[in-house]
Amino acid sequence: MIINHLRKVKIEKNSFGKFHKSSTGSLWVNLASAAFSAGNGSLLILTGCSSGIGLAVASRLAKDELRRFKVVATMRDLEKRGPLEKVAGDSINKTLEIKQLDACCEASIRECVNSLPDRRVDVLVNNAGVGMIGPLECQNMSDMKELFDTNFFGLVRLVKEVLPDMKRRQSGHVVVMSSVMGIQGLLFNDVYSASKFAVEGFCESLAVQAMKFNIKTTLVEPGPVVSEFERKVYEDATKMDLSGTDEETARIFREIYLPYSKKVFASLGQTSEEVAEVNNSSSDHPRTPPLRHQTNRLYMPMTTLKHADPTGRLPLDTFYKMIFKHDGVFNATLTLLRILQRSTRKT
Ligand SMILES: NC(=O)c1ccc[n+]([C@@H]2O[C@H](COP(=O)([O-])OP(=O)(O)OC[C@H]3O[C@@H](n4cnc5c(N)ncnc54)[C@H](OP(=O)(O)O)[C@@H]3O)[C@@H](O)[C@H]2O)c1
Repeated sequence: MIINHLRKVKIEKNSFGKFHKSSTGSLWVNLASAAFSAGNGSLLILTGCSSGIGLAVASRLAKDELRRFKVVATMRDLEKRGPLEKVAGDSINKTLEIKQLDACCEASIRECVNSLPDRRVDVLVNNAGVGMIGPLECQNMSDMKELFDTNFFGLVRLVKEVLPDMKRRQSGHVVVMSSVMGIQGLLFNDVYSASKFAVEGFCESLAVQAMKFNIKTTLVEPGPVVSEFERKVYEDATKMDLSGTDEETARIFREIYLPYSKKVFASLGQTSEEVAEVNNSSSDHPRTPPLRHQTNRLYMPMTTLKHADPTGRLPLDTFYKMIFKHDGVFNATLTLLRILQRSTRKT
């Protein structure tokens, strides 16, 4: 199935003459379409810009040659502004401004939005998020609630703050960093995946009402992305006390899941810059951005399984067999994908 899908991966040429893997559109394209409807100099507020995807998206949009965005890049701890200042360079205080915002604190969200001229937000990019992996029995309830407080309630707080003004203006775009794990659950990612399912359900429900007010909604669904996120979850996993679970579960986590997961990141992982991919061809700017946007075509065969069988047996059986029965096939497939990923990057 994966091989069949690979045959269908199209390599296309973008407007800069560079080749890139065809995707369902880029995050850039979705944001640019928002700028078209809001006019140039659209105010875009982005959360979680101290590292990874948020940092890459903020600096790329701030450097837009057409200056379509005024980017308000936020982070909860301004002490961490160094890497963004470095990559944003000349854009600082021209097309990019850095502000404090903690997605878990309503007062900090309100203060940030109140500091904007007329409180105007044309595009909200909700990116802040945290991960968590491991056997459920080894995770405590307060850590799980904290994760939901950031990944799900953080989004809810932000939308509550900007939606009324967007409705009044009859324009706006809410872009949310979800994940392929918001479509399909994954072994030992129970709580993280549940938080992204919550995000997906929330956005899908809200999107219909938003449409009535000419507000667009887009869920960006990356597969594995090599960022601080990956480093942090593996660091936590290494320190994790596995005595709370049985020996077999601990063995599966340590000896099967962790090595597999690292291989998946090495084979399929995108960079944050790839997620924030730039494609400046005007013909690629849809006025109606998609509700869902998966950034990694190589991961799509996995998510497609979900839609191929409404009973849910197909993805369950496939994941089970790949992990516990046919690990040789799984490893060979990952090697093939790694080669494909490298060759598309070189061209
Ligand atoms: N990496 C992946 O494999 C992957 C795949 C699919 C989806 N995603 C999603 O992509 C988003 C960005 O992840 P990333 O890969 O770029 O990871 P990252 O490098 O760890 O970035 C996460 C960002 O969120 C911030 N953050 C965490 N809690 C916050 C809070 N309460 N308020 C404000 N900011 C907060 C972090 O700030 P601090 O530096 O202060 O912690 C950091 O700036 C997340 O929503 C994640 O779920 C990631």
